[in-house]
Amino acid sequence: MASFYIKTYGCMMNVYDSDKMANLLVARGYTQVLNPHDADILIFYTCNVREKAVHKLLSDIGRLKTVNAKIIAVGGCIAQAESKRLFERSPSINISFGPQTYHKLPEYIESILKGERKRIIDDTFYKMDKFNICPKKKNVSFSEHIAIQEGCDNFCTYCIVPYTRGREYSRPVKDILNEAKWLLDNGAQEIVLWGQNVNSYNGEAPYITIGQPKATWRIERLLQEVSKLPGLRRLRYSTSHPKDFNEELMRVHNEISVLVPFTHIPVQSGSDKILKQMNRGYTSAEYLAKLDRFRKICPSIQFSSDFIVGFPGETDEDFKDTLRLVEKAKYTISFSFKYSPRSGTPAAKMRDQVPEKVKEQRLEILQDTLLRDQITFNKALIGKTQEILFYKKGKHSKQYIGKNVYMQSVVVENGDDLIGKFRNVLIKSAEENCVIGQVV
Ligand code: SAH
Ligand code: SF4
Ligand code: F3S
Repeated sequence: MASFYIKTYGCMMNVYDSDKMANLLVARGYTQVLNPHDADILIFYTCNVREKAVHKLLSDIGRLKTVNAKIIAVGGCIAQAESKRLFERSPSINISFGPQTYHKLPEYIESILKGERKRIIDDTFYKMDKFNICPKKKNVSFSEHIAIQEGCDNFCTYCIVPYTRGREYSRPVKDILNEAKWLLDNGAQEIVLWGQNVNSYNGEAPYITIGQPKATWRIERLLQEVSKLPGLRRLRYSTSHPKDFNEELMRVHNEISVLVPFTHIPVQSGSDKILKQMNRGYTSAEYLAKLDRFRKICPSIQFSSDFIVGFPGETDEDFKDTLRLVEKAKYTISFSFKYSPRSGTPAAKMRDQVPEKVKEQRLEILQDTLLRDQITFNKALIGKTQEILFYKKGKHSKQYIGKNVYMQSVVVENGDDLIGKFRNVLIKSAEENCVIGQVV
């Protein structure tokens, strides 16, 4: 049977999809290889959130394609947005498949290998099928993601996701619980519930009450049920929209011991004018009031955020509003990006596009400010003992890198293999992007 190689770009949804796709292909007899030079089939599973994504993809295809490669398949968010234009841009591509179609990939590969077709394109929104058709994962890791919700109805004016992932869809509770049980029974200790907007999760309840219409559960109830499953030591969820963040969700952080006291609530900007033009659905004061309320309900909570600088029409004063918000919000970790115009989105057509140079300057200032908060937070951990889950080896031998409940990187030196293990670690010193400690 043929062998395949997958290169995955973008968010955790893509990592999850790629994993499911690999399981399906292995179950059909294909072999997964880690070196593209050994592969008969090259699969590129793409992200389209920022510009130059297509350019990067085409250059990767050129770089990784070898004489052995019989099939080149491009899936995910670029395939959905570009559809058959991809074939015009690169004649070597055989399959273009959107993020809702990967369960059909084995069928498409077989058809091309048999010589029935030369090119196949599928950008249908099949919704449910892909989750249920793929077989259960065999090589379960100690830390696993489960997609609980997909798509987005928010249409922020800068964002391509609603066009590539489609309308919001929540998987039924029963399917999620079954998947979580399987993963925990097979060695997972940490579970991350993942979706484009997890706090608007509204999935079909696992039972029906006679005479009543079918009920749905929100994220709070789902977290409660997942947290009761045996074997679970750490539970996380991501990513949330500030406008859908309610007090019930804040409260479950106090009620569920395995749920980390940390949440990602991307604000994007601190200027009310820009937030309105972004169509975010909240003001900076409303956002900050939610963080305050959250801290009152759950004093140990910490936050992270995403930012976009240089959105069309953003003035120096608007940008200063973002810096002012950062000062008040006090994030542990943040991710900031220069605004990138996405064709087909309303913001790409707005007047007053900000020059690249200005975007760069603002990004640098913002990142310096965010880093300052991060260092302050890291330093405050010195002398504390924290429970760390170790994910990978560091650069030096005996060095291991783990995460605390706030998703900060913790580095230790240790004789025994720590990967996949929880250990108490005394924090000894702090750097910009990590803290250094010792297993106690
Ligand atoms: N649903 C999530 C975000 C998904 S996209 C939310 O609303 O928070 C992840 C991040 O990419 C966004 O939070 C945003 O900061 C960034 N992003 C999305 N579109 C972008 C664009 N056109 N230019 C720059 N950054 C963008
Ligand atoms: Fe994009 Fe906004 Fe939806 Fe997030 S909420 S995926 S930023 S449209
Ligand atoms: Fe990128 Fe698609 Fe995720 S555009 S961020 S891979 S939903």
